[in-house]
Formats: sequence, C-alpha cells, structure tokens
Amino acid sequence: MATLLRLILRFVLIAALTSSTLLACNSLMFNNLSSTSDPLASQTDKKTLPPISPIATKDSEPERIPDAPYVQTPPEVVLKMLEMAKVNKNDVVYDLGSGDGRIVITAAQKFGAKAIGIEIDPELIRESDRESKAVIAQTPEIRDRIKFIKQDLFKADLSDATVITLYLLPQANLRVRSEILPRLKRGTRVVSHEYELGDLPPDQIEKVKVGNYEHRIYLWILDN
Ligand SMILES: C[S@@+](CC[C@H](N)C(=O)[O-])C[C@H]1O[C@@H](n2cnc3c(N)ncnc32)[C@H](O)[C@@H]1O
Repeated sequence: MATLLRLILRFVLIAALTSSTLLACNSLMFNNLSSTSDPLASQTDKKTLPPISPIATKDSEPERIPDAPYVQTPPEVVLKMLEMAKVNKNDVVYDLGSGDGRIVITAAQKFGAKAIGIEIDPELIRESDRESKAVIAQTPEIRDRIKFIKQDLFKADLSDATVITLYLLPQANLRVRSEILPRLKRGTRVVSHEYELGDLPPDQIEKVKVGNYEHRIYLWILDN
C-alpha cells in the first residue's frame, strides 16, 4: 500500500513539474517573438488595441476591429513617401487608414494634391478634422483639397485615385493587394511604409533613419 502511495505521489509530482516547465517555455517564446523594434508590429504585440465589439453602436468606436493599430508615420517618412510617388497638383492621393491625417494634410499642403483620408476610427476622424482646420487657417487654399471619410478602407471608392499610401500590417497589405490593386487604374503609384504587398516586387525601396530605427518605404507603379 505504501509503495502504491509513493508511486502515485511521484506521478503527481512529475506531472506538475512538466506542465510548469511547458508554461515557462511558452512565455519565454512569446517574449522573444515580441521583441521586434518595428513600431507598428510592437504595438500589435503589446495588444494595445482595446477590445472592440464587431458591431459598435457608439460613434466613439470603429465599426469593426481595425486591421492595424494606430501608429503615426514620422514626418520625415511622410515626406519621403510622397516624394517617391512624385505627388503633384494633378494627383488624387488616398491614405488608407489615415490616422491623424498627417499624410493627407502634407500631400495637400506641401505637394498641392487633392488628398482623401479613409479611417475606420471615428475619434481619429475627429482629430484629423481638428488638425486640418488648424492648417486651413494658415493655408486657406487647401480647404477644397482635403477630405476625411469614416469608412472601412476595403469598402472605399478609389476610382479617381492616382496615388495610394499605406501603413498597415502585412496581412492587411495582402488583402489590399488582392482586393484593391485590381480595381486601380494603370499607372497608379502605391507607397507603403514598412511592409510589402506580399511577394509583389516593388519598383523602388528606400530607407529613412529616424532615431535608432530604420524605416522602409516601398513603391509600386501599377501596370494593370
Ligand atoms: C499604422 S496607422 C497609420 C496612420 C497613418 N496612415 C500614418 O501613416 O501616420 C493605421 C491606421 O489604419 C486604421 N485602420 C485599420 N484598419 C482599417 C480599416 N479596415 N479601414 C480604415 N482604417 C483602418 C487604424 O485605425 C489606424 O489609424
């Protein structure tokens, strides 16, 4: 009887040790995977997005879970993206997931383009409107060249787009490639901060160092 009890105790001890070792390994692996220095990826790893109901009823929440968290493109990178796309006054620029509207405002103010921001988060749309009002007060001529639309980017009408700017996650970029690119006109320039469009070879790649981090920018000129 005593031998049987000892056997059972040993079994319980081994089982407890094995499961705690597995838990420790799991947590170590997760921490290692999270140690990326890309600002957008690290935001996602930290799970900074609030838990959002897929059917939001209030005007303070996105209508569904966004495809990328809100992280701003630094001003130097915004300028480089628009320069790479050779944005000019004849262009219609769409920033898909426009955040606080910085790419849209810069495209209108510094490059003379018509620019539209598509953003799913109503709070960011309000922030973009506030930002653009301040800029319009200084440069009133851009009033008719800036617009922000609260919408899921995958449902946006992009029929007049000549330039598309992106700062989304790789998975969302894959959807952009398969669902949006085929709808765009031949010659449309697509510029993406940080992530590629799957294995579609870019026409140009540039790097911009801001602080310790080297940002990558990709350009595609569509031959649809
Ligand atoms: C990484 S931020 C980029 C913001 C801005 N374009 C910039 O470069 O500073 C991504 C933005 O996309 C928005 N977003 C994510 N999924 C979206 C969707 N399906 N439709 C519209 N906006 C979306 C997020 O709310 C967030 O503001």
